Amino acid sequence: TLIPVILSGGAGTRLWPLSREMMPKQMLKLLSERTLLQETALRANAAPIVVCNQEHRFIVAEQLREIGIEPKAIVIEPCGRNTAPAVAVAALLAADQPDALLLVMPSDHLVRDVAAFQAAIAKAMPLAKAGHLVTFGIEPTEPNTGYGYIQRGEAVMDGFTVRRFVEKPDRATAETYLAEGTYAWNSGIFLFPARLYLEELARLRPGMIQGCRDALEQGATDLFFFRLAEGPFATLSGESIDYAVMEQTARAAMVPVEMGWSDIGSWSSLWQESQPDDNGNVTIGDVITTGTEGCYLRSDDRLLTTIGVKDLVVVATDDAVLVAGKAHDQDVKKIVEALKAKN
Ligand code: GDD
Ligand code: MG
Repeated sequence: TLIPVILSGGAGTRLWPLSREMMPKQMLKLLSERTLLQETALRANAAPIVVCNQEHRFIVAEQLREIGIEPKAIVIEPCGRNTAPAVAVAALLAADQPDALLLVMPSDHLVRDVAAFQAAIAKAMPLAKAGHLVTFGIEPTEPNTGYGYIQRGEAVMDGFTVRRFVEKPDRATAETYLAEGTYAWNSGIFLFPARLYLEELARLRPGMIQGCRDALEQGATDLFFFRLAEGPFATLSGESIDYAVMEQTARAAMVPVEMGWSDIGSWSSLWQESQPDDNGNVTIGDVITTGTEGCYLRSDDRLLTTIGVKDLVVVATDDAVLVAGKAHDQDVKKIVEALKAKN
């Protein structure tokens, strides 16, 4: 049985001021009438286990209800410990079914071609059943340092073995990988037997798995949620699945996939994915422009106008306005950090 696991713990700070701690990227309608979380749940095609934090539980439950999806479980983390423990908890929940396959999915990505996504999952199933931790590789287009890089080895079934997995290399290293031509970006989606993940984690991070087990055993059902026990979960050291498992394991495989994927990691990628008009502008809300090119302009609740500007991001919400050069949009993070320090 295939069990989708949707990871919804991230904050998505690079899309501030739209994305907020209480309402992060995955819970927003960015590119369609549905939120990214809803699109993810629909794409998964089976009752998911959603792992999210305490503050988001009601929004998550409500967004799933809105689209008629009954989750297998909504697991609440008392605090964020990154993705390796979140996946371990889901794997422990699923492992009573010996043949359970987990389809791990970030909640905040865009996939335009859902049929291609599903075809890739179908290709990956035999690999996972044969004892692989399957990753899905995206053809890289730039030496982006925010991604994991997967070097393919020999062909096996409908995919490849993985020679090397390197999470977030520095710029120079990423450039050599691109020149090499044998590397793909890690999409952040994984397919593997729940038991295989637990086996690998037990070998690589024995303490983590015990902590997760305790957090489940001492946890409790609360309304329609399952709340992990804070004591054991809080003592875990946070680590991502990429560093804790994928970089270390010898059992990884990769299925290449072309599915119109984006992790919408910045305003400029959202601009790009929103199909700009003839002047290269994307306008959302009440916006009037003249002599404006290459801009992402979004206003929630007031008129926004621009004259004679180029390549800007302007986002106005009811309590904050961001004006940024499109090429500098990665620095939104710095603003969010400054804000946190101030509050
Ligand atoms: N439940 C839970 N708890 N979910 C979490 C937590 C947590 O503590 N931390 C992050 N997540 C969720 C995020 O909401 C997101 O959906 C997913 O897990 C991945 O986490 P990110 O923080 O967005 O990871 P990343 O973007 O830096 O890197 C990952 O994704 C890249 C592709 O976008 C890695 O897998 C990279 O290798 C990959 O290239
Ligand atoms: Mg991400």
